[in-house]
Amino acid sequence: MADLEGVKIAKNYHTDEPFANNKGFYIKGANHLDWGMKKHLSNIFNPVSGNTVMFAFDHGYFMGSTAGLERLDLLIPTLIPYIDVLMGTRGALRACVPPENKKGIALRVTSGSSMVQDDLSHEVLAVDIKDAIRMNADCMAVQTFIGADGQLSSLDNLSRCINAGIEYSVPTMGVVAVGKQMERTDRFFKLATRILGELGVNIIKTYYCENFEEIVAASPVPIVVAGGKKLPEPEALKLAYDSISHGANGVDMGRNIFQSNHATIMAQAIGKIVHEKYTDKEAYEFYQDMVNEEEK
Ligand code: 5RP
Repeated sequence: MADLEGVKIAKNYHTDEPFANNKGFYIKGANHLDWGMKKHLSNIFNPVSGNTVMFAFDHGYFMGSTAGLERLDLLIPTLIPYIDVLMGTRGALRACVPPENKKGIALRVTSGSSMVQDDLSHEVLAVDIKDAIRMNADCMAVQTFIGADGQLSSLDNLSRCINAGIEYSVPTMGVVAVGKQMERTDRFFKLATRILGELGVNIIKTYYCENFEEIVAASPVPIVVAGGKKLPEPEALKLAYDSISHGANGVDMGRNIFQSNHATIMAQAIGKIVHEKYTDKEAYEFYQDMVNEEEK
């Protein structure tokens, strides 16, 4: 193992050069995967735009019921037409999501933390590959805490999920969680996303930050950006636009959709940015026009 003496800070990301090893399949880092993996990934990333809008409602696995998610059974069917992927727990999906829906499934497979704890970094791999297959999951989402007390166990969870996913052709999505010892800077997110890419995930979910294009350039697989806490709609749309325009292949938004006063319209506005090259300002104009129409 290389020692930490004389570590030189990376700086040549060639951000203007597209990913080189992409012959034969449109999803980054997937061209040598088997048909099943590619099929699942194509259920996530739109073959035309190459991008995805994931709607995240898995917050309950550690937050319990949170504002906007009180009634998943009422909320989720209203949003399904406007998103590409449903990101939820197996409990929520089985109980509240019509199985006949045709959208991609990002299945939250880790658990073990709750919002009443101080350290959220100790989780387990709670859903096994057989249940992910039963759920027809298009990817398994694993929380990974870099720079936290639970780093080793969360990377062990991730590796075991990747091993099973390779065996049964189910992609793994590494979810970057900000450990207490790390800060929300590009230095941390470069470390975390590259570790996940090196360990063999097929998708990385992380947060937007400065120099994001360098994080994308150094990642061997597609990156989707988590929305984070609720923002005013123009700011949330700018986050989506900045993420896509700096190389993300999608967003994974929860609170900025389900805590919006017009959740279905917000989901559509995000989709305009992710799939139709709208700017954030154009998307917000769309949002306002749709809200005015709805309120007539
Ligand atoms: C919650 C999650 C969510 O999937 C992720 O954070 C996206 O949701 P939001 O946009 O509300 O942050 O990992 O545990």
